Amino acid sequence: MAALGTATTPAAAPGAPRCYNRHPRPRHHIAARRNRVASARRLDLCASASPSPAVTAPDIPDEAVEEPLVEPAAETKLRKLACPICYYPLAGSSDQSDDASSLECSTCKKSYPNKQDYWDLTVSVGSIEYSESMPAATELFRTPLVSFLYERGWRQNFIWGGFPGLEREFEMAKTYLKPTFGGTIVDASCGSGLFSRLFVKSGLYSLVVALDFSENMLKQCNEYIKQENISDERLALVRADISRLPFVSGSIDAVHAGAAIHCWPSPACAVADISRVLRPGGVFVASTFVADVIPPVIPVLRIGRPYISQITGNNTFLSEVEFEDLCKACGLVDFKFVRSGFYIMFSATKAS
Ligand SMILES: C[S@@+](CC[C@H](N)C(=O)[O-])C[C@H]1O[C@@H](n2cnc3c(N)ncnc32)[C@H](O)[C@@H]1O
Repeated sequence: MAALGTATTPAAAPGAPRCYNRHPRPRHHIAARRNRVASARRLDLCASASPSPAVTAPDIPDEAVEEPLVEPAAETKLRKLACPICYYPLAGSSDQSDDASSLECSTCKKSYPNKQDYWDLTVSVGSIEYSESMPAATELFRTPLVSFLYERGWRQNFIWGGFPGLEREFEMAKTYLKPTFGGTIVDASCGSGLFSRLFVKSGLYSLVVALDFSENMLKQCNEYIKQENISDERLALVRADISRLPFVSGSIDAVHAGAAIHCWPSPACAVADISRVLRPGGVFVASTFVADVIPPVIPVLRIGRPYISQITGNNTFLSEVEFEDLCKACGLVDFKFVRSGFYIMFSATKAS
């Protein structure tokens, strides 16, 4: 039986503002009753026929899930974006249309191009001579082949590592994210956008930012969006490094990062920047692989971990204790998690 973490319901941070009453201006009540959300009161994945070991999803309270009142997003879509160098909003982004060719930083004047499929908000965009090579775990996903294969079998294989599968992962993430419904969510390291699309379709957020470092993943994401006829009114595709997020500090309600931390060059820098962009009471939900079941059996793996990380360029071997420690060190509290095999989903809240 897989180890189970403290499967708990995320509580709203005291005084945490909910988006529907944060803005005094009138808004449209567009959200219909979402029976599928309310009916997802309790997920008992132990009953699953999936080959993955048992996971108990976080409890969902019996009362109906409150309906977020989602604001119209069109004119505000680019307003959330900021210069990844200065962290100031991009000049004129509130009046620039989505098909503008570039956005400019009001402070350093750096220009960020619209690459048709996504906005490129990486620090080094526009540099001619300089190119930075990222660790293998980042570079792998930049290739056209892996981006193409990702939702065509690659991601489905995670089930063998204990991942419960997309739909269950989404339901579990939503229980943690509930206090942030109605606001802006960043689907960090979105890959080909499998969760970003679900967040948009759910209508639970006024804006979904699908963010990844891989140009090809973002192109793939855009293709799926077109194929599935998903409106991009509440969706922005952004290329950025997870450790240099292009948002104003304290401006984001939620960050979701599915199956990604093990690919990040520095989880510490990434979590620190996620904490920076979250508003007080904002929620960070992440899933990834852990492998702390191995070290007690083969202690040499723990000793060799830093070297393995250096070679593979990933950080697969973090445990839930280390994730909690890292979150706390970055000002994220109220750590909760579920575990199954090599799979973990955890959430932490930006301290008020
Ligand atoms: C295994 S995929 C996860 C995709 C998706 N979130 C999911 O749940 O399946 C990991 C993603 O992390 C992205 N990634 C790796 N390094 C990154 C970085 N430095 N900044 C942003 N994203 C990064 C990769 O491009 C890739 O799309």
